[in-house]
Amino acid sequence: MPSWTRKDLLSIAELDAQEIQLLLDTAASFKQAGTRGVKKHDDLRGRTLVNLFVEPSTRTRISFELAALRLSADVINISADSSSLTKGETLKDTAKNIEALEADIIVLRHQSAGAPLFLARRLSCSVINAGDGAHAHPTQALLDVFTIRERLGRVAGLHVVIIGDILFSRVARSNIWTLLKLGARVTLVGPSTLVPRSFERMGVRVERDLDSVLPTANVVNLLRIQHERQRREYFPSLGEYTALFGLTKQRAARLPDDCLIMHPGPINRGVEIDSEVADSGRSVILDQVTNGLAVRMAALFLCAGCDPARIEEPDFDR
Ligand code: CP
Repeated sequence: MPSWTRKDLLSIAELDAQEIQLLLDTAASFKQAGTRGVKKHDDLRGRTLVNLFVEPSTRTRISFELAALRLSADVINISADSSSLTKGETLKDTAKNIEALEADIIVLRHQSAGAPLFLARRLSCSVINAGDGAHAHPTQALLDVFTIRERLGRVAGLHVVIIGDILFSRVARSNIWTLLKLGARVTLVGPSTLVPRSFERMGVRVERDLDSVLPTANVVNLLRIQHERQRREYFPSLGEYTALFGLTKQRAARLPDDCLIMHPGPINRGVEIDSEVADSGRSVILDQVTNGLAVRMAALFLCAGCDPARIEEPDFDR
């Protein structure tokens, strides 16, 4: 059984394939236990988790809260608006005060890349990255890969196509690291302003012609345009973007029948993905959200120092 020695989960880039597999297997065990009716576990009883979200979130914040509750932890939610960050307190001072109140785990979402690492180096409690700027969103990538493995039975050898605003996407970077470490082939598609060729240095292919890539895809992962991180116009209009890079009904028809359609959310229906395609049988968008719970339980469980040998092995092939 591989071991986990980290107090923090900051980025997939720092993990090796065995650590990623351990997170996925631990998540699978929690999901299986849930389907057998064992939803609540005692592992984090007496521990306190603080969700410190300095940027908005629906899926990540709620699933970290639910994951902590399922592990019997106490949970406090803090948003930037309702904290003393608005009065000029620094992130470090806010976090030090949270730690002084005996928090065991801080889950941080922040608009600045590197903010979770900054805290992890200064705190003795665990820090889990719930998304930092355009840098990393490790639990999103883990739940994406978990969903792929669950649906297709493997990750190695698959062709995963990530489409859209890669430049500003922490989800894309974390997915690329995870998929490549597990042996998948990754193609990025989008306008040159949002998908520069420099991404090829990560070990992926960059393509401009979406239609030519779709027939060989095992998975397509659509990303929304992240207007909140962009400082200028990166394409002429949303209509033109959709015409060239949107997963329309016509384009979806070019995909193999068993191709998974994924999106981390939030979706901008009619822009990066047609509304009917998002709700179609090949879409696993809501499965991704469901799997986020088990994945975040696994991340909390392992970073809290719990022993993965205590959980049963999952029974599906990698
Ligand atoms: N995918 C994702 O991170 O969604 P939220 O911003 O709602 O957490």
